[in-house]
Amino acid sequence: MTDRKTLQTALIHHDYEAPGGFGAFPPAIHHASTVLFENVAALRSGDWKDKSGYTYGLHGTPTTFTLEARLAAIEGGTHCLLAPSGLAAISMVDFALLKTGDDVLLPDNVYHPSRVLGNWLQESMGVSARYYDPLVGAGIAELIAPNTRLIWTEAPGSVSMEVPDLPAICAAAHARGVVVALDNTWSAGIALRAFDLGVDIVVQALTKYQSGGADVLMGAAITRDDVLHAKLSGSHMRLGLGVGADDAYLVMRGLPTLKLRFDAHDAAARRVAAWLKARPEIVRVLHPAFEDCPGHTTWKRDFTGAGGLFSVLFDARYSEARTDRFVDSLKLFRIGYSWGGPNSLAVPYRMAGIRRDWMDAGTLVRFNIGLEDPADLIADIERALSTLTD
Ligand SMILES: Cc1ncc(COP(=O)(O)O)c(C=O)c1O
Repeated sequence: MTDRKTLQTALIHHDYEAPGGFGAFPPAIHHASTVLFENVAALRSGDWKDKSGYTYGLHGTPTTFTLEARLAAIEGGTHCLLAPSGLAAISMVDFALLKTGDDVLLPDNVYHPSRVLGNWLQESMGVSARYYDPLVGAGIAELIAPNTRLIWTEAPGSVSMEVPDLPAICAAAHARGVVVALDNTWSAGIALRAFDLGVDIVVQALTKYQSGGADVLMGAAITRDDVLHAKLSGSHMRLGLGVGADDAYLVMRGLPTLKLRFDAHDAAARRVAAWLKARPEIVRVLHPAFEDCPGHTTWKRDFTGAGGLFSVLFDARYSEARTDRFVDSLKLFRIGYSWGGPNSLAVPYRMAGIRRDWMDAGTLVRFNIGLEDPADLIADIERALSTLTD
């Protein structure tokens, strides 16, 4: 065979290689399903668990390894695995640690699809999923059964905003050899050092603050523990939880501004929440930095900041139809799920599956404060509030 190729083959096999030594700030975006090996011996020695090399696009590329390393560093962890959504990262943890006959404890205010997953594991896989009051603290010890393998926490719960006592829950769990996983999305890993408080696995929905653009879905499971990481890697591989290179790049692109954006969301949200607190229509501001919020003192002890997400209770004298009309009347705030992007959002919630006496005081509306000028957001709310009574 000569080196001469037909045009068809030459379109696929090309000789040019760009010179090395190219330097730029943005990381390269590596697209690959197939990863090439130098020879058969290299292929045979390939190990997808070892991030010192590459085996297949699903198991990592320089782009995804770089994002994983950066996320682990932000959170204070040593290992990170990406998943195509925050919920996929949650399922990676569940499938890594739970099997038939095991028990998992979840806070009753947990991110609702995580609860749906827990119920599904119970109905179809013979895992028992039980729910606890997130303010249970050290009392979680009484709920731990001999077959409890995993305790989920969420700090704070992303609708009722209750802040759990993580050190107390972790101490009780570890005394019984139980793993604690935290959905740390609200703090973006910026305002809570979860591993220092005893948490074993942190999950982030990178869809929110890390991406910052409301334009990409991704999740991550981060740990400091080699054994847990190996279990998570097995689950990641079995479930095929790869992420696209362009999406990984989009998330990476958000990281340099993550803290600046988070702090801006935080300052604006506290300003809007303080304004709402002074309004006669509002009976309770469920923002962890405010005293009204269950778990506020725990937030003060453990957190160094807050994000843009909080809820309020409208006085019970306003019917749900009225508060719905309030939300419909907002102009800058749009109606939609998620948070962490530049646009403000408002959603009325009926808290499925949880009961607290304080909820009787009124109807809950959750605000995600974006990056607009808070004065404009307050003016928008003030105008919409007039629809409650007219
Ligand atoms: C607290 C929390 N965790 C996890 C998720 C899941 O993230 P994703 O939408 O990327 O699946 C969400 C999404 O709304 C969330 O609010």
